[in-house]
Amino acid sequence: MIRVIVPATTANLGPGFDSLGMALSQYSIFECEAADDINIEIEGLEADKLTVENNLVIDCMNRLFEYIGNYPKGYRLKIINGVPLARGMGSSAAAIVGGLMSANALMGFPLEKEDILKLATEIEGHPDNVAPALLGQLIVSTQTKDGEIVYQTIKPFEDLECVLFIPEYEVSTSDSRGVLPKRISMADAVHNSSHLALLVMGFANGNKDLIAKTMDDKIHEPYRKILIKQFDDFKEAALNSGAFAFSLSGAGSTIIAYVSKENSENVCKSLQRVADESNLEGKAVILKPCTNGAICEIS
Ligand code: HSE
Repeated sequence: MIRVIVPATTANLGPGFDSLGMALSQYSIFECEAADDINIEIEGLEADKLTVENNLVIDCMNRLFEYIGNYPKGYRLKIINGVPLARGMGSSAAAIVGGLMSANALMGFPLEKEDILKLATEIEGHPDNVAPALLGQLIVSTQTKDGEIVYQTIKPFEDLECVLFIPEYEVSTSDSRGVLPKRISMADAVHNSSHLALLVMGFANGNKDLIAKTMDDKIHEPYRKILIKQFDDFKEAALNSGAFAFSLSGAGSTIIAYVSKENSENVCKSLQRVADESNLEGKAVILKPCTNGAICEIS
């Protein structure tokens, strides 16, 4: 039996639009074994919203079989979803990485992780969620003009925790990308590139003060805020209750606060209070950075 475990991810972390992402301690699981025919079961979080007919995990498995030019006779696959859909927590990245890694294991590991990252980025369109889903930790990544995926991994500092408010309502990535401007000003481009460079240094050095000063975005969050209920209230509550930084998680609808471990309970209560006071359904949760990324167990 092949068992692939893939973490949720948060992307962008403010100014790192499409280039910065971090793996989180919440997981989808994919169990797979060779069989004579194809049999697929779907369980777990929001499983009623997932179908076998239109399924990213299965599409990615087929993509890998096509890529290596070799197809199995059949397989049994159980998807145990653990990442909420269309909330900005990397559900599609988890499905892509889960499908590719399951198919790779089923065929005897013909591809290396770097090949899987390239395929996953082609499917997702940008590497910011798929890279940490596959490799774990905080990853800054890009695709060069030659098509190469270049990335650097940063180990999150010891007492970093994340408090997320995961609303019941969904925001599709296409809607959230649809509100973005076609062009940005030179001033906003300079703001983001300088803030991102310093933010990455802040994470690399565990410098919370630098992270606090530089997690500020001007090219996507200001436009996306219209889709995100109580964004400003959540931000104010998080920063006033002990978080040192705050961002939209990926394309939303989840928001995420970055905290030192000793403040996470307080920030969690504070975010839940904002939601309760505005009758917004959803749940505040505390997650840790996931350091190992996707793992594949064979039993
Ligand atoms: N970087 C992506 C975005 C993440 O913000 O649209 C969601 O796929």
